[in-house]
This record gives sequence, C-alpha cells and structure tokens, in this order.
Amino acid sequence: MKYESILVIGGSGFIGSHITAALSAAGKRVIVPTRRLARARHLWVLPTVQVVEADVFNPQALDRLLSQADAVINLVGVLHSGAGTPWGPAFERAHVELPRRLVAACERQAVTRCLHMCALGADSHGPSMYQRSKAAGERIMLDAADLKVTSFRPSVVFGPEDNFLNMFAKLQSLLPVLALGGVRAKFQPVYVGDVAKAFVTALDDPETIGKVYELTGPRVYSMKELLHLAGVYSGHPRPVIGLPDSLARLQAFFLEHVPGGPLMSRDNLDSMKSDNVASGLYPVPVGWQPTPLEAVAPEYLAGH
Ligand SMILES: NC(=O)c1ccc[n+]([C@@H]2O[C@H](COP(=O)([O-])OP(=O)(O)OC[C@H]3O[C@@H](n4cnc5c(N)ncnc54)[C@H](OP(=O)(O)O)[C@@H]3O)[C@@H](O)[C@H]2O)c1
Repeated sequence: MKYESILVIGGSGFIGSHITAALSAAGKRVIVPTRRLARARHLWVLPTVQVVEADVFNPQALDRLLSQADAVINLVGVLHSGAGTPWGPAFERAHVELPRRLVAACERQAVTRCLHMCALGADSHGPSMYQRSKAAGERIMLDAADLKVTSFRPSVVFGPEDNFLNMFAKLQSLLPVLALGGVRAKFQPVYVGDVAKAFVTALDDPETIGKVYELTGPRVYSMKELLHLAGVYSGHPRPVIGLPDSLARLQAFFLEHVPGGPLMSRDNLDSMKSDNVASGLYPVPVGWQPTPLEAVAPEYLAGH
C-alpha cells in the first residue's frame, strides 16, 4: 500500500525536519504538529507540508490530526528528566505515555501504519532512565495489535543542525581545554540524511512491518575522538581530558542546573556506560550505505 498523508509527530525537531523534507520531496502530504508554530518556521516553505499548533497529548487533538492522515511517524523524545524509578516524569510522558495515547488514537481513527523512533541501546534493563523508557515506548508500539509498526534505533545522529558535534565545536571555541566524563564511550554516528531516507523508504515497504532496524554509521569512534574531530573541523582543536567517574558525576550534576536547561545529565553519563554501537541483534535496512562523518561534518563545522 502507498501512504499519501503522513502525520509526523516531532517533525519540527532536528531529525523530524529532515524526514518531513524527504517526505515532501517524495510528494507525500505531511502534517507536522508543534507546541510552538515559530519552532517549525523552517518547514512553512515546504510544499505539501502543513504545520499546525497542537497538543499531541490531548486525545481530541490527536484524533483530529490522525483523521487527516493514513500513516503516522512518532519522533517525540527528550534527553533529560527528573529522577524516578524506573525512569523520571519527563521520560514517562514523552517516551511511554505518548506511545500509549498514540496507539489508542490510531485505533479510534483506524490509522494502521506507524513508524516509530527508538534509540540504539534502548533496553528495559539498561543503565539509564533514557534507555529503559525508550525500550518501554517501543514495546508499546510493537505490541499494538492493530498497528503495522516499524521501529528505528539510530546511534547518535550528525548533520548540519545537530546538537552534538556542533556543541563539541562550540565548547572548543569557548574553552582552552575540555575536561569531561565518558570520553572512552564508543559511538557509531549516523548521518541525518541517511536516517530520513530509511524512514521514507520503509513507509510504503510492507517487508519492514513488525521489524526493528539499527541505524549506524560506517565507523566506531570514542567520545574523545569525536571531540577531537569536532575541534579540528571547526578550527579550534583543544586538549581533551577525561574526568574520573566521581568528578564526571559532580560536573553533570552542575550541568543539569545551568540556565536554559541541562547541557548534560547524570542520566546521560549512565547511558554511556554501554557503548552506543551496532548490537547485531537487529538488522540494518536493506541496501544500507551510511555516509561517513568525514564526508559531511567538516563543511558544517567550519562555520564555527
Ligand atoms: N538526535 C540524536 O542523536 C538521536 C539519536 C537516537 C535517537 N534519537 C531520537 O530521535 C527523536 C528525535 O530526536 P531529535 O534529535 O530530532 O529531537 P529534537 O530536535 O529535540 O526534536 C524533538 C521533537 O519532539 C517534539 N517534542 C519534544 N518533547 C515534546 C513533548 N513533551 N510534547 C510534544 N512534543 C514534544 C518537539 O516538538 P515541538 O515543536 O513541540 O518542540 C520536536 O519536534 C527522539 O525520539 C530521540 O530520542 C535521536
């Protein structure tokens, strides 16, 4: 079946904007709800894309959005939350409660196709609240009897508007030296354009239904290597010092409370206790040819 009208929840964010643009380029009609219209200003100009202000946690609003769609993509996710067991309230709301509400609304509106965004390393017994809550949300989606779900688990995603290499570059333009925890953690960064392509290709492909895909780049890097590359590509390479665990947790505690929201949290450090690399437990999409970081990052980091 070909799906023509797609509701993209979280379509205004970094990855969502690329998925929305790729869907629009493929001729799909796209509806993007956002809490603040201005946040999705960059999508207004895209043909076939309709941006609407809506609270996707409100069942009536969700029903109205789904009534105009024949498939839905759920990308909502947060990186930080207050504490809780097995996870904190913000993770509960974004990663668990929203999937629950989405499943119920899809049932009411007879929308049966759903692509879901999970994360590499999501695990109900994982070391961080983020990983545990992401796993719970994915399970809710996959267990929904009437939904044809495909779930994706990317490693950390890079691209011109990323909040990861850009932040590493910015920090190095401001500080003479970087002292951070988790520098030995491993990542397999994946390009945002490849992630968007995987979503758009899967949408109309019945072979992907009920499957979970890992999305990883061609190379594994330590956090220290990534910090170094971000410094080199942005023209401000700085020495990187790894902090011992106790100091790293103290630093994260302070960074949780900086004005403008957490820069880093103790839960982020917990996530880094397990390497963020392909597990081999799930396949990659058919024909997966990931873009090397070296082919893209130098250009957009040069702007720093
Ligand atoms: N970036 C990565 O490296 C990475 C790696 C693995 C997995 N992921 C997953 O990919 C997804 C998208 O990540 P991203 O980096 O694109 O995130 P992002 O830029 O922060 O965008 C998040 C999106 O979710 C929406 N959202 C967030 N909290 C919400 C809430 N409480 N209620 C309603 N909408 C909410 C935002 O909409 P508004 O317009 O309303 O703000 C925004 O569109 C997330 O699920 C994330 O866990 C990301």
